Amino acid sequence: MKGTVGLFDSGLGGLITARYLHQLRPDLSLLYYGDTAHLPYGDKSPAQIRAYTREIVSFLVEKGAEAIVIACNTASAVAHEVAVEAAQGLPVFDAIQPALARLLNSTPATIGIIGTYTTITSGVYRDPLREAGYLVQERPTPLLVPMIEEGWLDHPATHATIETYLSALGEIDTLLLACTHYPLIEPAIRRYYQTTGKPVQILSTARLLAEAVATTLPRAEDLSPPSLQIWVSDPNPRFQALAERFWGTALPIMPASTSPTALAKSPAP
Ligand code: DGL
Repeated sequence: MKGTVGLFDSGLGGLITARYLHQLRPDLSLLYYGDTAHLPYGDKSPAQIRAYTREIVSFLVEKGAEAIVIACNTASAVAHEVAVEAAQGLPVFDAIQPALARLLNSTPATIGIIGTYTTITSGVYRDPLREAGYLVQERPTPLLVPMIEEGWLDHPATHATIETYLSALGEIDTLLLACTHYPLIEPAIRRYYQTTGKPVQILSTARLLAEAVATTLPRAEDLSPPSLQIWVSDPNPRFQALAERFWGTALPIMPASTSPTALAKSPAP
């Protein structure tokens, strides 16, 4: 394997996953597709998300991806098979399996799950967890992705929304961030639980997915420096600014194909 991984999501969430993967496996070259023209995915129909997935995976394969990472819970919940078909035999990682494996290996607990409407209503987490005897409290939290893409990471409206959503979950001891965007508001979520005085373990599907990919893929055989290419379906300055803030470096974000840019060595976020 030369070491080229293609990841995608509706926007920033998959880029967060890519950042974690880069920290864990700096030898890999990354191709990232942010489908900003169709953001948020969470309120689209499964058929629509499957259509986007097919197109994006084909694009990444054409650009040279040797493995595909569905860095989006919503697409993982409803479009895994389509991604596998479009990947033409390449390995496909989804956001759900690593998180489920981790939860199913934990001691019985009350697990809270937050994510998009599509992810929550699909039951991809709830059903296997309940079957295994876990108590599950779940809730769609659709307002969070637009707030994150707006850069409202520490905004009073975001704190109020988080409080409204999380207080409705009731008592839990583990919270699964079942949307790859949510690590950006993890500090705000932690702050909410500090105010309640009840310790809650927070698990991030973005981080668990990056760990699974990092530990599964073999070392890159290509000795040329790893590269990063990022495409978005609808470039906008807010996305660029937030993405660069999170990566801590200028990023080559393209509306269409250009030549690869060397991965910058940048500090951890
Ligand atoms: N980050 C994605 C997820 O994990 C998609 C969020 C959205 O676009 O609604 O579900």
